[in-house]
Amino acid sequence: MKVSGSLRVPGDKSISHRALILGALGDGESRVTGILQSADVKSTAGVLRTLGADVPALSSDIVVRGGGPKQLRQPERELDCGNSGTTTRLMAGVVAALPITATFCGDASLSRRPMRRIARPLDAMGARIELPPHGGLPMTIHGGSLHDIDWESEVASAQVKSAILLAALVSGARARVAEPARSRDHTERMLAARGARVHVDGTTAWIDAGSHIGALDVDVPGDPSSAAFFAALAAVADSGTLRLDHVCVNETRTGFLEQLRRMGARVTEESRRLEGGEWVADLVVSPGDLRGVVVGAADVPSMVDELPMLACLATRAQGETIITGAGELRVKESDRITAVVANLRAIGGDADELPDGMHIRGLSRPLRGRVTTHGDHRLAMAFGVLGAASGNAIDVDDRDCVAVSYPEFWRDLAAVTSE
Ligand code: S3P
Repeated sequence: MKVSGSLRVPGDKSISHRALILGALGDGESRVTGILQSADVKSTAGVLRTLGADVPALSSDIVVRGGGPKQLRQPERELDCGNSGTTTRLMAGVVAALPITATFCGDASLSRRPMRRIARPLDAMGARIELPPHGGLPMTIHGGSLHDIDWESEVASAQVKSAILLAALVSGARARVAEPARSRDHTERMLAARGARVHVDGTTAWIDAGSHIGALDVDVPGDPSSAAFFAALAAVADSGTLRLDHVCVNETRTGFLEQLRRMGARVTEESRRLEGGEWVADLVVSPGDLRGVVVGAADVPSMVDELPMLACLATRAQGETIITGAGELRVKESDRITAVVANLRAIGGDADELPDGMHIRGLSRPLRGRVTTHGDHRLAMAFGVLGAASGNAIDVDDRDCVAVSYPEFWRDLAAVTSE
């Protein structure tokens, strides 16, 4: 398989959610270009509209007319978050600070995901939260005015951190969040760019009491988690070079590119520039003789969504790859440890589960068979890329679930590969 050409992957999912939420919470008109038009971002737009915000249908160039928190009102129906953990957790922070009661619901996968991690701090701030015994959805939040908080999060999670910062912003309270490792910082960056008093020191972020935000035009850069699939594709190709234009290279997101380099692929960044508070670059990736890598807890936050891809790539590398400190993978859209290992074995791979990670041994024989995605977009794309490697033949059971983050994935995969 050969790769060629250039690709502009769709807009970053995390930044797209935040552009809508902070656009609605700010005063004035915010123009958003290049927003990701995927199912997850549509969930955030839908929840905001149900709360009374003026969010237009998603297109490549939209204007969000922000009316501040006062524009948001008691919803007349449940807040349907679809498959999106980011929608649920970030909007939970917003709702907790409003004088309303709202119930969050979602699909079967989202309904199983842990919500106590946000319910506990929001409860400590003064909101009342009802969760079912399994701690997932449906979740009902009775919001109101909130107190200041100083929170030590047990997990490195940008969703938890953002829920707390947004609750503080909307209620005018002060919040400080410390994490065991630094998670992605798009909320802090975008809040600061809109004029909020936000500070970061190592793994701690805080927002001053009485912060307000204004409008901000955002040109959403390409999603590094989507670009990762194509960087991996170029790394396992037999020949060729692939250019990935306008990718967000925020250092809290580039762990996968570092591992690709360590594995032996050639990855270069061109025209690194700061756009709207985020670092952006064009990536050029070409194949190398891949070798296994060891990934530990400190590496995980900056590549948490890319670990299924790394595990698939490890089957084509020489030697073994060990991933630990990644227990969070068990509570993503699927249990990504069990699901990735079961699928690798189903196609002839050599992999074992670890309690908090995976152990994969590289093989030279072709991998063939059918994989089960459990509706998880990142599993579909990771095995789609592995299936494109020479000799492999992998049938993905649910190709359509890529709509969650990258609706045009299969079209783009076909466009840049040839025999
Ligand atoms: C996200 C944070 C990450 C990531 C998710 C998007 C965000 O989740 O897995 O895809 O936009 O804040 P956690 O914060 O729960 O690790």
